[in-house]
Amino acid sequence: MSTQTEETVDDYKAFNTDEVDTFQPTRKVTLKTFRFNAETDYLPYYKHYEMEVGKDELILDLLNRIKWEHDGSFSYRRSCRHGICGACAIKVNGKATLACKQNALELIDLFGEELVIEPSSKKRAIKDMIIDKADFWAKHAAVKPYVVADVVARPEHETKQSIAEFNNFLDSDLCIQCGACHYSCPALEVNDAFLGPAALNAAYRFTVDTRDEAGDERLAITAQMGSGVWDCVKCFECAEACPKDINPIEKIGKLHNLQFVRGVAESNVATRHAEGFLRGMKKTGYLDEADIVTYSEGYLGMYKHLGTAMRMMKVGKIHWHSGIPFINSIPKIKNLDEVQKLIEIAQTHKL
Ligand code: SF4
Ligand code: SF4
Ligand code: FES
Repeated sequence: MSTQTEETVDDYKAFNTDEVDTFQPTRKVTLKTFRFNAETDYLPYYKHYEMEVGKDELILDLLNRIKWEHDGSFSYRRSCRHGICGACAIKVNGKATLACKQNALELIDLFGEELVIEPSSKKRAIKDMIIDKADFWAKHAAVKPYVVADVVARPEHETKQSIAEFNNFLDSDLCIQCGACHYSCPALEVNDAFLGPAALNAAYRFTVDTRDEAGDERLAITAQMGSGVWDCVKCFECAEACPKDINPIEKIGKLHNLQFVRGVAESNVATRHAEGFLRGMKKTGYLDEADIVTYSEGYLGMYKHLGTAMRMMKVGKIHWHSGIPFINSIPKIKNLDEVQKLIEIAQTHKL
């Protein structure tokens, strides 16, 4: 135990004689903190703040202490302090964190005694932790995140919904629009047009609401190539980042399915790729990667992947015996007819 920690314990004992038995020692932490003022700074920089952190302190407490004890100009957003308003989302050592929900010592256990405090998106920083979330809100608005319905001015009874219908969207409705998933999404980093996990979660939430009448319109918006569900790379980073355990990628998967169920899906490389999985399974019971490529991109389209295929073969990622396009080289599994029956029962829509 460091001298400083012992002094802190003694100080604490002097003031809290009744509580000495329950006291837990503090840990010294360095907060390497992103600082930037878009009005005055050309480039961001990092400042280091040292402090003793107690077992009950949240990351938000540490932000408050930077501001109150070290530098009053340090800026960040917070409001509810109860994980409800979504204002305090930042990144700690690259991990999306809701500052008012995250215990600081847990992160010190995870990352060691230097915590790197950064805004959710450094390229959108306005001042320190405060970012410009305009892209987040614009994408949210683009999916009509509200119930669209012809409402009678003076209804005579409520619009009823069964518990099962309500449960269909209950967890997606818990979104607090913190942006943690949005600013952790690698697909968005490379494609500004992509709607992102939070907007797609909202699209799902209102599309499956039985009171809503704009589901097909929303599905058409989210089916767009370049911006919709097919541009998600299914990395699950959004599920990892979400402080409300919403699992946006699960909702994206459901939107894929709804596009087929409601007949909104159009034949394109992405939808044929999805259907190609089934096609291969139906033929042999195995996943036939080569067949998926030829089915989704056509024989001509396939040639653009030849270089990649050769490189993959060279490093042992593809083997000749695992399937050559045009040649039925994949064996069939036993009981293939049972798999085919299951596919027939489960399949909702064909392109
Ligand atoms: S799973 Fe999709 S939406 Fe979620 S973070 Fe990855 S690419 Fe983005
Ligand atoms: S889905 Fe989760 S991480 Fe994304 S904005 Fe909503 S609450 Fe935040
Ligand atoms: S301050 Fe409201 S969610 Fe953290």
